[in-house]
Amino acid sequence: PPFWKGYALVAVLSILFAVLFVPRDWSVLSGPKPPQGPLAARLLLSRRELAQYDGEEGSRGLYLAILGRVFDVSKGHKHYGPGGAYHFMAGRDASLAFITGDFTERGLTDDVSSLSPLQVVALFDWLAFYQREYKRTHLGRFYNETGQPTEALVNVEGLLAEGRHLKAQSEAEKVRLPPCNSEWSTNRGGRVWCSPKSGGVIREWTGVPRRFFSPASSGVQCVCVKDASTAEEDPNLQKYDSCPAHADSCFVGEH
Ligand code: HEM
Repeated sequence: PPFWKGYALVAVLSILFAVLFVPRDWSVLSGPKPPQGPLAARLLLSRRELAQYDGEEGSRGLYLAILGRVFDVSKGHKHYGPGGAYHFMAGRDASLAFITGDFTERGLTDDVSSLSPLQVVALFDWLAFYQREYKRTHLGRFYNETGQPTEALVNVEGLLAEGRHLKAQSEAEKVRLPPCNSEWSTNRGGRVWCSPKSGGVIREWTGVPRRFFSPASSGVQCVCVKDASTAEEDPNLQKYDSCPAHADSCFVGEH
């Protein structure tokens, strides 16, 4: 009997095995940089394909997508695998839930059009986390068939720029008007006071406490004002009742 018959059988079986079991997109799994041009299409995972990477038994792996970028999170199996606290984020793009914390079926969506600019900044902080901790594999929604960003991505990136600007502004404001220290005691009620370290802003001045109506956060908070007389010109800053104008500590009763 011809000795090669055995080899031929092995060869045929290997090819059959390869065709059946090696994932068709294995060749594009390793590309580290964002895809461009016609090859991009092969890097795209549809929603249904992504759902096959939810880490359940028999699934193709453990992936998660955020802002249309797909990461292999199998290293974080204890978080994202079956039984993990964040398993419901596996195999899908649940970008919105990263901000809302709404892990119901309604909240697990990639429609982020309801987010404010500052929330979008927080969402991109999550994206940066995945870029740092995990390996990117494919692209999901937010990219079209040729790998170009969709309108949804362009919109959210517009909000990102606005949010970064707002955040820089509020940080600058915190330096100008640092938060007060505060304490509460049952017999004396509340007290707010200023110190050169209050609000985590280390500075050379102490300042005096004022009620501040913040237009950005649309709430009232206690801030330290460097100069009591400039505070009088700002309608958003108000003295605490029955507290001397130059005192650096005020009893405030109930907040
Ligand atoms: C908007 C709400 C929240 C979101 C979107 C969120 C998301 C996540 C994600 C994605 C991870 C896994 C990170 C990784 O890959 O290493 C994680 C880890 C974790 N989260 Fe949350 N989380 C939220 C709220 C909370 C809250 C309220 C708590 C505490 C009560 C909490 C406690 C933890 C802990 C303990 C870990 C594990 C850290 C570790 O073992 O490395 N999370 N969270």
